[in-house]
Amino acid sequence: MDKLVVTGGTPLNGEVVISGAKNAAVAILPATLLIDGVCTIENLPNISDVKVSCKILEAIGAKITWNSENCITIDTRNVCCTEAPLDLTRKFRASYYLIGALLGRCRSVTVGMPGGCKLGARPIDQHIKGFEALGATVTVGQGNITAKAECLNATSIYMDVVSVGATINVMLAAVLANGTTIIDNAAKEPHVVDVANFLNTMGADIRGAGTDVIKVNGVERLVGNATYCVVPDQIEAGTFMLAAVASKGDIIIKNCITKHLECITAKVLEIGANAEDLGGDRIHVWCDKRPSKANIKTLPYPGFPTDLQPQMGVVLSMADGTSIINESIWESRFQYTDELNKMGAKITAQGKTAFFEGVDHLSGAPVYSSDLRAGAALIIAGICADGVTEIYNLEHIDRGYEHIEEKFRRLGANIVRVTED
Ligand code: EPZ
Repeated sequence: MDKLVVTGGTPLNGEVVISGAKNAAVAILPATLLIDGVCTIENLPNISDVKVSCKILEAIGAKITWNSENCITIDTRNVCCTEAPLDLTRKFRASYYLIGALLGRCRSVTVGMPGGCKLGARPIDQHIKGFEALGATVTVGQGNITAKAECLNATSIYMDVVSVGATINVMLAAVLANGTTIIDNAAKEPHVVDVANFLNTMGADIRGAGTDVIKVNGVERLVGNATYCVVPDQIEAGTFMLAAVASKGDIIIKNCITKHLECITAKVLEIGANAEDLGGDRIHVWCDKRPSKANIKTLPYPGFPTDLQPQMGVVLSMADGTSIINESIWESRFQYTDELNKMGAKITAQGKTAFFEGVDHLSGAPVYSSDLRAGAALIIAGICADGVTEIYNLEHIDRGYEHIEEKFRRLGANIVRVTED
């Protein structure tokens, strides 16, 4: 079992280059199943969710050539199987995109129930609502989801909940449907827009991604024969912004889209740290004093992202005063606070609200990552803490952060990955 050993006390300084967005890549890869052709995808993050996605695509007949660790050429002309293996689909959440893609292409699909971070119930009722509205019959049982349709006919769907996954999944199912599908109350995250941009590059006709209303004009086929570059990861960029603040360091974050970071930048400035947009794809973040307290409510984009809530929790655990975080998206996203309290934090979590009584400093301890973003938060905590922190359950972190210890080490962190028997 691997662990990260972090010796804290060194402010982070230097430059970091952001990788392609995990939550865009894990949707774009299954979306290639809608293409009757070949395409190339660049700026894929080298993470386990991408590797598992590629294994699933190959298992159902796609041919993948790795041009580099971040670039593939994929040929989906001979996709034959409409069943995705349960042992692979349960490894991560985004396997549910196989439903929309294979329903759209083959009008039939059986996929093992998706896995993913344990953040609460994580229902898929809105996905199913969208598929059924398009004319599919969906059944759930024996650990699988099956969807079938004689044909898919456009319709108007109002999402009861703003859902990234359901918005993308219904978009996938509608691309080759007859007519114009309208998705109302749609999610507006950068990765939703990136999937729409990818599909349009391959021949789809999707309008309005990034707004509340997305229109999908069904087309006959997607021809591919194009190259697409995955959008920079908003959450990875935000993770390093908050690491700069927590460690009282000075970091230039490169290959990001500063527009996607406006909410995080606003909070960084609100608590007394500094952030400067250096022009479109770079942002400078630095902090030379103890941050002041703040209140956070996580919301769908453009609100404060739930995927940066744990990382912000580390900053607030050492802020001057008592802060409150209200986690409005997930029922169970404060598990990391137990680990921070082992390091000397004073956090009280009650349901969807947590109270952070700021302490002067954290102290190193053995801690366990409960999910992807909690793992990133614990790395930041270890970098800030006095002494040595050992972080376990690295499989969560490796799902979504490319070369994370190397990136932190290049910023001056004393961090090594150790393999234990
Ligand atoms: C995506 O999950 C991300 N994962 C999550 O990031 C992220 O936390 C989440 O969006 C919110 O931004 C991927 O993109 C692979 P949702 P998803 O559907 O699509 C409720 C990470 O760390 N809901 O937007 O599963 C749901 O319970 C991961 O990268 C329904 O009620 O999230 C939640 O309260 C963790 N019914 C809210 O909507 C549904 O059918 C938002 O969920 C679907 C969702």
